[in-house]
Amino acid sequence: MDNFVFQNRTKILFGKDQVDNVGDETAALGKNVLLVTGGGSVHKSGLYKKITASLNKAGLLVTDHSGIAPNPEIESVRKGADICKEKKIDLVLAVGGGSVVDAAKTIALAAVYDGDPWDFFSQKIKPSNPLPLGVVLTLSATGSEANGNAVITNPKTGKKLPMYHPDLYPAFSILDPTLTFSVPADQTAYGAVDIMSHVFEQYFHDIKATSIQDGFAETVMRAVIRSAPVAKNRDNYNARADLMWASTLALYGLIGTGAKGDWTCHMLEHELSAKYGIAHGAGLAVVFTSWMRHVVKRKTGRFKQYAVNVWGVDPSGKSDLEIAKQGVEMTRAFFKDILGVGVTLKDYGIDDTRIEEMANSTATIKKGALGGLDVNDLVEILKNASK
Ligand code: NZQ
Ligand code: ZN
Repeated sequence: MDNFVFQNRTKILFGKDQVDNVGDETAALGKNVLLVTGGGSVHKSGLYKKITASLNKAGLLVTDHSGIAPNPEIESVRKGADICKEKKIDLVLAVGGGSVVDAAKTIALAAVYDGDPWDFFSQKIKPSNPLPLGVVLTLSATGSEANGNAVITNPKTGKKLPMYHPDLYPAFSILDPTLTFSVPADQTAYGAVDIMSHVFEQYFHDIKATSIQDGFAETVMRAVIRSAPVAKNRDNYNARADLMWASTLALYGLIGTGAKGDWTCHMLEHELSAKYGIAHGAGLAVVFTSWMRHVVKRKTGRFKQYAVNVWGVDPSGKSDLEIAKQGVEMTRAFFKDILGVGVTLKDYGIDDTRIEEMANSTATIKKGALGGLDVNDLVEILKNASK
C-alpha cells in the first residue's frame, strides 16, 4: 500500500426527511443564498417548494439560478458568479444531480475570483476561500456531493475538463433517497454505471496489499449490482438508499487511499460527452467495456479477483484468464442487458470519424499517464467500441 493523506470534511445527513433540515444547515453557513438548480425536475417533483419553504422559515434571503444543463457549460457558471458578486451572496446551495453540484462548486469559486472561471480548468488556477457550499442531492451517480471535484464543458473549445480544489468539499450534503424516486430508469442506470466506473478507476491498479480498500470497493460494486436493477422500479427505498450511499462512497476518497487511481477511461469519456452531448454514464459504459477487454490479459490477477469477489464466478477448472474474462463479459451483460445501457458507439449514433482526435486529446490532458497504455491503445479501444 502506498502512503496517503485522507481528509473528507463533508457533513452527511442521510435518510428520509433529512431534507427538512436544509434551512437550519444552510443558515449555519450564511444568510444570502444562491439557490442553483437544473432544468426543472425540482419543480416537477415539488422539491423546490419544500426547499424554499425551509429556507424562508430559517429567515434566509434566496436568489435563484436555475437551468443548469447536464454536462454543465461554463457560461452558466459565469452567470452564477456575476449574480453572486452583484448580490453579495454568502453561500451557494445546489439542489440537483452532479451537473448542478459541479456548476454550484465552480460558481462558489468564481464568486471570489476576478478572472474568467475557465482558468480553473484550463490553467488549474486555485483561488482560496470559495463561498461555502451546501448540497441536496437528487440523483445517485457522481459522488460530487462529498468530494472536491467539478467537471465543466466549454463548447467554444470543445473541451470538458475536471478540476479539484480541497476547499470545494460541500460543507453539508443532504442525501435523502426518496428524492431519487422520480429519477427515470435511464438516468438511474447511467448513474449506476458511473458509480461502478468510479470504483473501476481506483480498483484495477497494480499496487500490492490494499485488502481493506479492495474490500470497500468490492462491497460498493456488489451493492450497485444488487440494487440498481431494483431501483429502476422507482420507489423502492432500500434499493435507492443503497445506490445513494454507494454513489457517495465510490468517490469519497476512501477507496482510492493507498493506490493512485487511473482515470484514463473517465477522460476518454469526457471527450465523448463534450463532443456528442451523451450522458456521462452512457459514455462510460462504452469506454469501460471496451477498455476491460483490451487490458484483461495484462491485468489478469486483478480481473480474476474482481470476477470471483464481485461476480461470484466459480474458479474451479478454469484458467486465471478464463475467470478474468468471465468477469469482464458479466460486466458488459450487466450494463447492456440488465440496465439497458448501450455499450457501443453505434448505440448512440456515433461514428468513428473523431476517434484519433479524442484519443490524442485524452493523452494531452493526462500528460501521457494512461495507466500503462499509449494513444494507439486508446484508438483501438474506441475502434473496438464502435463495432
Ligand atoms: O436538470 P434537471 O431537470 O434536474 O434533470 C436532470 C437531468 O436531466 C435529471 N434529474 C436529476 N435528478 C432528478 C432528475 N430527474 C428526475 N428526478 C430527479 N430526482 O437527470 C438528468 C441528469 O442529471 P445530471 O446532474 O447531469 O446527472 P449526473 O448526476 O449523472 O451528473 C453528470 C455530470 O457530473 C460529471 C459528469 O461528467 C457530468 O457532467 N461528473 C462529476 C464528477 C464529480 N464532480 O466528482 C465525477 C463524475 O465522474 C462525473 O465526471
Ligand atoms: Zn464518473
